[in-house]
Amino acid sequence: MLERLNEIEKAVRVALQRASSQQDLDNIRAEFLGRKGALTSMMRSIRDVPPEQRPQFGNASNRLKNDLEEAFKKRLVEIQNTSTAKEGKTSNRQVETPEDITLPGRKGFVGHRHVLMSLLDEIVDVFHGMGFSTALGPDIESAYYNFDALNTQPNHPSRNIADTFYVKGHKPDDGNPYLLRTQTSPVQIRTMLSQEPPIRIISPGRCYRKDAIDATHYISFWQIEGLYVDNNVTMADLKGVLTAFATKILGPKTKIRFRPHFFPFTEPSVEYDFSCTCNGKGCRLCKGTGWIEISGAGMVDPEVFHAVGYDPERWQGYAFGMGVERIALIRHGIDDIRLLYQNDLRLLKQF
Ligand code: PHE
Repeated sequence: MLERLNEIEKAVRVALQRASSQQDLDNIRAEFLGRKGALTSMMRSIRDVPPEQRPQFGNASNRLKNDLEEAFKKRLVEIQNTSTAKEGKTSNRQVETPEDITLPGRKGFVGHRHVLMSLLDEIVDVFHGMGFSTALGPDIESAYYNFDALNTQPNHPSRNIADTFYVKGHKPDDGNPYLLRTQTSPVQIRTMLSQEPPIRIISPGRCYRKDAIDATHYISFWQIEGLYVDNNVTMADLKGVLTAFATKILGPKTKIRFRPHFFPFTEPSVEYDFSCTCNGKGCRLCKGTGWIEISGAGMVDPEVFHAVGYDPERWQGYAFGMGVERIALIRHGIDDIRLLYQNDLRLLKQF
């Protein structure tokens, strides 16, 4: 009797392995476990078993029935999985799993202006508030505007091809080479050639220099030029306007200092620094000095007035340049200019 149960088990398991559809399973179930199935009839024949063997036979056949039920279930799942996988392959449809509508949604990332550009907008706003208007000039500039008209001598080192990007094959009628402007100062010339004083402009723009790239230098950077031409303009006006600007953008405690310098287009000339946000304690950003170099400034050189046809006896003016990246670095405590150009989302999302 027990042998017969073993045979039935083997037969069912072989049949299950061969089955490939629900229909196959139904047939096998009918054949073995149905009302007239092999196992069912076996179990009914318990009457013919000698009484002392009945418990053993009863247990064995019940256990087999349960085991086979489990085997049917398992096989059914396998068959369903292979058929959905096949379906997915041929029709490219995803296996449909019910959505869990209680899961929190994935948050979208809303883009915004780059930290440098939003600072630029702010800077421009501050100067507009002080009565300056915006003037723009081209990135590809003639050496005349970038150097000659700015009183830069033909042998000045900044003209060197090691410092300046010249544009091949472009020479305007006057024989001046084209270059990527090294400063926004040529916009001073363009503005003075097209307008009469008084003039009060700022000029934001990209500049280009063959600098070795490091934490504070990049081959392209933003400058804002300022030019004010009128009667009775002095260095005190220059210092006043730069101080007002610095305290607006970097906070009321910001200090400014002038250091004597030379520029061909201003006399006297200075380089100026803003106090670092470490408040003089000295940090990596200011290299322990408490000051950050912003750019140059000075009183417009009479030679520049001559170049644009203004009478230097009648007009005075101040001019300044400003490195926008430098200001962004102090303001946000970023210690490497390259971070502003890498488009790394970890930085962009912060500011
Ligand atoms: N153009 C100068 C520079 O790029 C800065 C400057 C601007 C100096 C205006 C004086 C006046 O270094």
